[in-house]
Amino acid sequence: MKDSAKNASMTDIASLKQELAHQIESARDTKTLEDVRVHVLGKSGQITALMKTLGQMDPEERKTKGQELNALKDEIAALISSQESALKKQEMDAKLANETIDITLSPRPAATGKIHPISRTMEELVSIFGAMGFSVAEGPDIEDDWHNFTALNFPPGHPAREMQDTFFLPDTPGESDPARAKKLLRTHTSSVQIRHMENNKPPHKIICFGRTYRSDWDMTHTPMFHQVECLYIDKGVTMAHLKGCLTDFVRAFFNNDSLPVRFRPSFFPFVEPGAEVDIGYVKDDKGGIRLGAARDGEEQRWMEILGAGMVHPNVLKNCGIDPNEYQGFAFGCGIERITMLKYGIPDLRTFFDSDIRWLSHYGFDPVESRN
Ligand code: PHE
Repeated sequence: MKDSAKNASMTDIASLKQELAHQIESARDTKTLEDVRVHVLGKSGQITALMKTLGQMDPEERKTKGQELNALKDEIAALISSQESALKKQEMDAKLANETIDITLSPRPAATGKIHPISRTMEELVSIFGAMGFSVAEGPDIEDDWHNFTALNFPPGHPAREMQDTFFLPDTPGESDPARAKKLLRTHTSSVQIRHMENNKPPHKIICFGRTYRSDWDMTHTPMFHQVECLYIDKGVTMAHLKGCLTDFVRAFFNNDSLPVRFRPSFFPFVEPGAEVDIGYVKDDKGGIRLGAARDGEEQRWMEILGAGMVHPNVLKNCGIDPNEYQGFAFGCGIERITMLKYGIPDLRTFFDSDIRWLSHYGFDPVESRN
């Protein structure tokens, strides 16, 4: 050790420096560079060994050699550290180049799903009535007799109940009030009016939609269908508001500013006066129809699309509202019916066949812009 140290101490520092610098520069990765570092500056490294020889020198020599060796050690350490950062950067660059993640979106397959026409109509209703300041209320499909009939001024045993062929469910056991015990599938969304008025303070300005159920089955009836109901109760609401709101609604929905709208007196227990609302159409030469006003020589025909009226005072009282203070209107309408008319869909039953060919024909592209 002493000899090799002595020999080492004889080594020309300048050429040692050159040689070490060469080793450092030719290290191609951080691992090799670390080996070089250990070999030079480690416990038994070359420079460390040289430092150890200082102890055997006389003071004069030790002073000069010591300075030279320290300078060498610093320079080599600096070289190693700069080579190390260069290598680390290189290695990081290589890693980044290898592990590149493409964060751009690749083109996706064209959307294959379609929006069902019922959903589409409901969205349109929300936007039309939303613009008039209505909000959306909800209620359950399984109702009790109170909300579906009694509170709506259908007294028990009243023949008007027969207008709606009802699916009854088993009574709720232990419920003493027969109107609450009797359960059924709601026959109309008018039950949501009652629930909303029971649970909120007037004024009321809502629409609600959802599934409704009647025991019917033909081209224009299915046991399950959808309705939308509109309710507006405030001080001083009149039949004129009903006519204005309804006319605006049907004209907006059918995209026809001059669509003729007609009110005919009709009976629903929960309104007084009550009306059925018709829209005008004409027959075209091909056996089809065109919604709108008749032109010269054409015959103006009418079709019924909804029921409406001023909410009956008994209904308001049943919901704890003083009819001398608040009045208002309601109307209700089959969603399939207006959808069939708007988009020329001939058979209501096809809405619920889940036939994908039907849906791709009548359905709506999810990203298509609204009209
Ligand atoms: N609920 C009635 C029906 O289903 C429609 C309607 C609603 C009529 C509101 C008048 C007022 O036939």
